[in-house]
Amino acid sequence: MDLDSLYKALAASPENVPLLLMVAKLEEDRFALAESRELLERVLALDAGNREALLGVARLLDFSGESSQAMVRLEDLCSRMADFSGAWLLRARISLEEGEGVLARQFYDRAVELDRSQADDALLEEILKAGGRKRGVMTSSGEILDEEDDDGSPVEGMDAAMALDLGIDFRVRADLRFSDVGGMEQVKDDIRMKIIHPLKNPELFAAYGKKAGGGVLLYGPPGCGKTLMAQATAGEIDATFLSVGLHQILDMYIGESEQKLHKIFELARKCRPAVLFFDETDALAADRRDMRQSAGRTLVNQFLSELDGAHASNDDLLVLGATNAPWQLDGAFLRPGRFDRIIFVPPPDRAAREEIAKIHAKGKPLSDFDPADVAKRTEGFSGADLKAVFDQATEAALGEAMRKGSMVPVTGKMLANAAKLVKPSTKKWFESAKNHALYANQSGFYDDILTYLGIKK
Ligand SMILES: Nc1ncnc2c1ncn2[C@@H]1O[C@H](COP(=O)(O)OP(=O)(O)O)[C@@H](O)[C@H]1O
Ligand SMILES: [Mg+2]
Repeated sequence: MDLDSLYKALAASPENVPLLLMVAKLEEDRFALAESRELLERVLALDAGNREALLGVARLLDFSGESSQAMVRLEDLCSRMADFSGAWLLRARISLEEGEGVLARQFYDRAVELDRSQADDALLEEILKAGGRKRGVMTSSGEILDEEDDDGSPVEGMDAAMALDLGIDFRVRADLRFSDVGGMEQVKDDIRMKIIHPLKNPELFAAYGKKAGGGVLLYGPPGCGKTLMAQATAGEIDATFLSVGLHQILDMYIGESEQKLHKIFELARKCRPAVLFFDETDALAADRRDMRQSAGRTLVNQFLSELDGAHASNDDLLVLGATNAPWQLDGAFLRPGRFDRIIFVPPPDRAAREEIAKIHAKGKPLSDFDPADVAKRTEGFSGADLKAVFDQATEAALGEAMRKGSMVPVTGKMLANAAKLVKPSTKKWFESAKNHALYANQSGFYDDILTYLGIKK
């Protein structure tokens, strides 16, 4: 819809607050700040306490270079409406602009605490770079009572900067939780036992001689949630999350990779409690006998010695790995103290598919949606295949909406049709996995795969 027709609509209903707000935002987006302000003032004349309008005015002030004016208004807004996450988030942005990283972090955390969907990785990264690793106790009006480090050690934004230097992701997907991952109960339990419970109950675990940390390796067909699970772990616990894609290490000259790997582990130890995630572990951990297409032997040894923690403590450090090709893994990785838990992540069973369907359905306009029916029709589908079903069905609904010129929900029927069109992607993986499991099943490592295929009980 173009602006002209919206103004016509406004002329017809000049007191339509949602419409006024919408046009104000469009004007703002095209930098017509005065027009936008005027519309917001009209809203406030009708409804003096309208928080979207109040926030909009603050945003416009900031835009036009009057950030301290904006801050005064936001402070007031936050003290009167302490649960208004949008106001906290704007305070975070403005504090960041003013170089106040620590303060920005308090505001950012408050905003995300109130509303997870406000999480913004790019913003958080900027805040971290600006020194916002400190957390404090904040009153509801935004006053900071006590400043303390995340983890009691003198960590500064330096770490984020260093992570950027190393080319690794240093962020918290604060918007993802275990509840965003369907099924995978065993993996969730394992991660809880390895890091979440021990961090929350250190004395209890110490009494049993246990500490937080260790290594968990996830393997299985692609698209079944391994990477998603790692991200959700980061959101679930208040720990630093470092994610390393292996190409980032391997695309280096020989000799440089080892050093880089060492630096990554050192950084992770410094930021403890931390989760260090290696995606597609196979490239690095490839069997030492088969080094042609993979990392050098010294790099594998470096990885093992870092995992062993012989030279430095790995307490409170959870190392997660994910791979689609476990048969390329060096046997040395499987010993205790390294990846001491190795978990097969199979395609979701029917109950898990039902859960995943509900997750993918969130926020979509649906009618006659029956998650159990979707689950029934999608035997052998991965979580990613299920997502493709929802994407296809959504496209069908959109296509129809365009034809009709009105809103059309995604129907159960559209989902059923899409389920016919999307082909399950996990079969191919099992063909190759089966051979490895049958002919290279040292010490029963692949029993889980054989059991899944019904070859072994
Ligand atoms: N168990 C699951 N629950 C919810 N969504 C899932 C699940 N598994 C996969 N997905 C969807 O498929 C996408 C790809 O999954 P991903 O975690 O990258 O798979 P993997 O790392 O195992 O190859 C996810 O971003 C998510 O949208
Ligand atoms: Mg993955």
